Amino acid sequence: MRTRRSFTLALLGLAATSLAGAGCGNKSNDIQVGAFLSLSGSDATFGTDTRDGIELAVEQLNAEGGIKGKKVKVLYEDDKSTTQEASQKVRQLIDRDKVVAILGEVASSRTIAGGLIANTSKVPLVTPSSTAVEVTQGREYVFRVCFTDEQQGKVAARFVRNDLKKAKAGVFYAAQDTYSSGLAKSFRDEFKKLGGEVVVDKGYQKGESNFRTYLSELKGAGPDVIFVPNYYNEMVLIARQAKEAGIAGSMFVGGDGWDSSNLVEGAGKELEGAYFTNHYAPDVPWPNSKKFLESFRTKYKHDPSSLAAQGYDAAAVLFDAMKRAPEVTPEEIRKALAATKDFPGATGTLSMDANRNANKPIVVVQIKDKKFTYASQVMAE
Ligand code: PHE
Repeated sequence: MRTRRSFTLALLGLAATSLAGAGCGNKSNDIQVGAFLSLSGSDATFGTDTRDGIELAVEQLNAEGGIKGKKVKVLYEDDKSTTQEASQKVRQLIDRDKVVAILGEVASSRTIAGGLIANTSKVPLVTPSSTAVEVTQGREYVFRVCFTDEQQGKVAARFVRNDLKKAKAGVFYAAQDTYSSGLAKSFRDEFKKLGGEVVVDKGYQKGESNFRTYLSELKGAGPDVIFVPNYYNEMVLIARQAKEAGIAGSMFVGGDGWDSSNLVEGAGKELEGAYFTNHYAPDVPWPNSKKFLESFRTKYKHDPSSLAAQGYDAAAVLFDAMKRAPEVTPEEIRKALAATKDFPGATGTLSMDANRNANKPIVVVQIKDKKFTYASQVMAE
């Protein structure tokens, strides 16, 4: 009886010690960085692909000794592809986990939501791939390692007008989405400036799944190309219905939101020959991209998406800033991030400009044989 009791007491003691360890939130003495991503919900591949890229960067960093003798751990939170959860998760990471910096999101609407919290809490946030102009505007603590939609829309318009030599464009976009409508605007403005004509311009509601009426209107206006700056899940449906309506897939031009293996799995055949602007393609001819491609293939046994490459770069740029910062505090990390210059990223060499946007090249990708193939690159201005 007595032995049994002391055994129980010993067990209780053990449990208490480990609980106390867990209670301080960070028993391993790692540096904690937060990440909020769409790991489930409508844009799940955005989140999971980005996480794969971040994890590769973390693994490489820790294998090389971490930061100031400490290992870095990224705490992931799933916002389920909603803006409301995005704000809540950022708040949790800051208040509960006391992270020193945050990575995320992909969709601009969710980075705008989470960025507001990070900015008012004075914790630096680096978004891998949110391109809407508003994301970093007036927010000292919000940075991005990608170009903006102002730049991306211009490049798409120039590509259509000057390289494809098309004069009549249709524009079809998700009306209430910040990313989609912002990119549509920038394309439209530049295309007209270059002497092109927008012969049909339609906004659909996010969440619609029957695009047939729009598609017949688009076709009726007789455009040479149709610019559709939306996300891959809607594009799969549009491409399939366009095929039924007799619109050739090669007429479509898109933006970085098309980047997902689900696009080519769902509508690769329907979109054969289509072009879109992007951050990366596996066959992009930059030395750092090749190094990244090799290590990514070794770890995951498949090619990285552009999102994975952007996730990798966001984490690598943040870690580089943390190494340069005299102390690993949110304020010092913010200053070091702002000073990022000529960083050799997997998605090109980048420098942070005065508005916390990355200066770097934009890639034009073509869908060929259900694969994303590098077509050309343009330096964003
Ligand atoms: N740029 C998109 C946005 O801001 C997100 C995205 C980036 C999607 C890259 C796919 C690939 O909303």
